[in-house]
Amino acid sequence: AAQMGADLEKVLLTEEQIQTRLQELAEQIWENYQDKNVLLVGVLKGAVMVMSDLMRALPGSAEMDWMAVSSYGSGTKSSGVVRILKDLDTDITDRHVLIVEDIIDSGLTLSWIRTNLRSRKPASVEICTLLRKPEAAKVEIDVRYVGFDIPNDFVVGYGLDYAEAYRNLRVVGTLAPHVYS
Ligand code: PRP
Ligand code: MN
Ligand code: MG
Repeated sequence: AAQMGADLEKVLLTEEQIQTRLQELAEQIWENYQDKNVLLVGVLKGAVMVMSDLMRALPGSAEMDWMAVSSYGSGTKSSGVVRILKDLDTDITDRHVLIVEDIIDSGLTLSWIRTNLRSRKPASVEICTLLRKPEAAKVEIDVRYVGFDIPNDFVVGYGLDYAEAYRNLRVVGTLAPHVYS
């Protein structure tokens, strides 16, 4: 992956499209949370880029925290059974929580995380995701802030990885066939 751009088949979202959309989402989010001391909760590792840019697009101060989770089961598909590898540092009792994700694929990871966070009696829990794949959904999740609905193709970049590579691409795109062989 020395030349990441050469491994892309197609750019789905440019740097400018991503940043413009995040700015719009940040404005909506701020309208709803400006008096609420919102806690942004990122899901490692994919959400790192979204968190970083979304947070800086907010016109006022917000807090951040992180969770790391792992799906039980084999392979690359999430199973819906989740183990917490790193829990929040923050007590979210009575807090307004906004979960920040890079992508909702099957929805299983986020569905579990939201149920888990709700059990801690926060004032509210909403979700912001840059990407969502409606055709891949295995569970219905109510998502308040969605950047882009995309087709059910494997995408990388802007936090999203293939075998841990390509997260540092500034764009989101699909990989050329030679990468997989
Ligand atoms: C990816 C992605 C989401 C999740 C979506 O994370 O970043 O967190 O999968 O899948 P789902 O909707 O089918 O549950 P991954 O488990 O690959 O970890 P990563 O963020 O460290 O890449
Ligand atoms: Mn992830
Ligand atoms: Mg991944």
